This record gives sequence, C-alpha cells and structure tokens, in this order.
Amino acid sequence: MKEIVGVKNLHVGYGDYVVLKDLNFAINLEEITVIVGKSGCGKSTVLKSLIGLLPPISGEIFFRGEKMDYLSETSLQTLYKQIGVLYQNSALLNSLTLYENIALPIKMRHPDLPAAIEREMVNTRLSQVGLLENRDKFPAELSGGMKKRAALARAIILDPAIIFCDEPSSGLDPITAGGLDELMLNLKEFFGLTFVVVTHELRSIEKIADNVLVLDNGGLHYFGPYRDLFTLKDRFIDTFFLKDINDDYKRTKI
Ligand SMILES: Nc1ncnc2c1ncn2[C@@H]1O[C@H](COP(=O)(O)OP(=O)(O)OP(=O)(O)O)[C@@H](O)[C@H]1O
Ligand SMILES: [Mg+2]
Repeated sequence: MKEIVGVKNLHVGYGDYVVLKDLNFAINLEEITVIVGKSGCGKSTVLKSLIGLLPPISGEIFFRGEKMDYLSETSLQTLYKQIGVLYQNSALLNSLTLYENIALPIKMRHPDLPAAIEREMVNTRLSQVGLLENRDKFPAELSGGMKKRAALARAIILDPAIIFCDEPSSGLDPITAGGLDELMLNLKEFFGLTFVVVTHELRSIEKIADNVLVLDNGGLHYFGPYRDLFTLKDRFIDTFFLKDINDDYKRTKI
C-alpha cells in the first residue's frame, strides 16, 4: 500500500465559514476511497480542496509526499498533471464529437503530439469504456450513462495517477450505475488506477469501496476500510448505511 495523497489537520471552507475541520487521512495507490456523508456536509468541498480548486483554510495536503502550495502555479501544474476529474454533470462540450471531447486534454497539454499517437490513445480509452463505435456522435446523441463513461474516458486520457469523481452515478438507473462501478473496478484491477469517489449510492459503496471517509458534524467521523465499518456498531454509521433498518426488517420477518 503506497500513499498518493496525505491530508494533515486540514480545515476547509469558504472565507470565515469552516465547513470541515481537522481532517486527517491518506489515499493509497490502486485503491478506491469513497467519501460519504449527508447532503451539505462538505463532500464536494473536500474534493475541491484535493483537486486544487479551493485552497485550504489551514492544514496540509501532500501529493506523493510533496506538500502542495496552492499559491504556486508550478505546484498546481504538477498537481494537474497527476489528476483526472469526473465532474457531476459530465461537462462534455456539446459542439465537439465524443472523439474530440476525449482528445481535448491531449490537444491542450501536448499540442504537437503526432496525430497517429493521439488517435491510438483516444481509441484505446474509448474501447476501455465501451464507446468506440460511438466516437463520432455528439454529446446530445448520447444517453446519461454513455456521457458518464465518456467523461471517465476523458478523465483518464493522460494517464493520471488518481481520478476524482463527484457523484459519478447520480441520475443513472441502478443497472447503468452498476456498469459504471464495474468499469471503475476493472480500471483499478487491470490498469492500477486509483479513485476517490463521492457518492450517496449504498449499493455502489458496498461494491467499490476499499476505504471510506465518513463526514459528519463538521469533521471526519470515520476513516478506514469499508469492511470494518459495521464492526464499529456506531449509531450514525449504522443509520446512514441503513443497517438499523435492515436489522429491524430482518427481525420482523422472523
Ligand atoms: N462556493 C461556496 N461558497 C460558500 N459556501 C459554500 C460554497 N459551496 C458550498 N458551500 C457550503 O458548504 C457546505 C458544504 O457544501 P458541499 O457542496 O461541500 O456539500 P456536499 O456534502 O457536497 O453536499 P451534496 O451531497 O448536497 O452535494 C454547505 O453548507 C454549502 O452551503
Ligand atoms: Mg456535493
């Protein structure tokens, strides 16, 4: 287990408004870390800090052991080279085809790359997410699930060390959402990708999470392996994950 992101005594928020304080956790390579908590608890805020969009109020974030300096353009550029982001609304550009959308990060970062190499890279990613035959379609011609897969292909096009996803399965039916989970698991297992995923979907968490970060009450309620969550017998966690309800349900069935 090798740490890629380390967070020490992190306070995040907006101006004087501290949304979360004293966060301490680590994200390991080739694992899926899931961030959960009630609506408005600060999940997207943490994510924004980790991807350099929101400078911390205080505390430290380390990438591969190197402390991030959010005021330094060089430090941010180093960060951007290492991360991929899947935004909640997919954020595909409507005027570009699927192929062009996925090629966009290459065009921006490596404008002189020979066309044949670019084609190879984009086609590989399109195949990995099962969209190769849709490469010439425009976003408006894609379903919600296809757009998410396309956004994932774009997030991984430059081989990031870590991919951040905010509510990747929101707005998808359970089967399509399950397909996206499967895709992330495959990318982790076969290509060693690392994910940080914000999600409310209990089924998805159960399926993909190696580690969980449970946020509540302005701080970190739990950080650790998903498999240990329910051995804690923690009231908030059991209620949040519907454990109480399921147990009561089982009792009434007996
Ligand atoms: N740009 C902003 N300026 C000021 N306050 C903000 C801003 N964005 C979010 N907040 C506040 O920060 C708190 C945490 O918001 P955040 O979006 O991180 O929650 P969340 O856990 O992602 O919620 P959800 O599950 O609904 O997406 C909320 O009280 C919200 O009102
Ligand atoms: Mg959010």
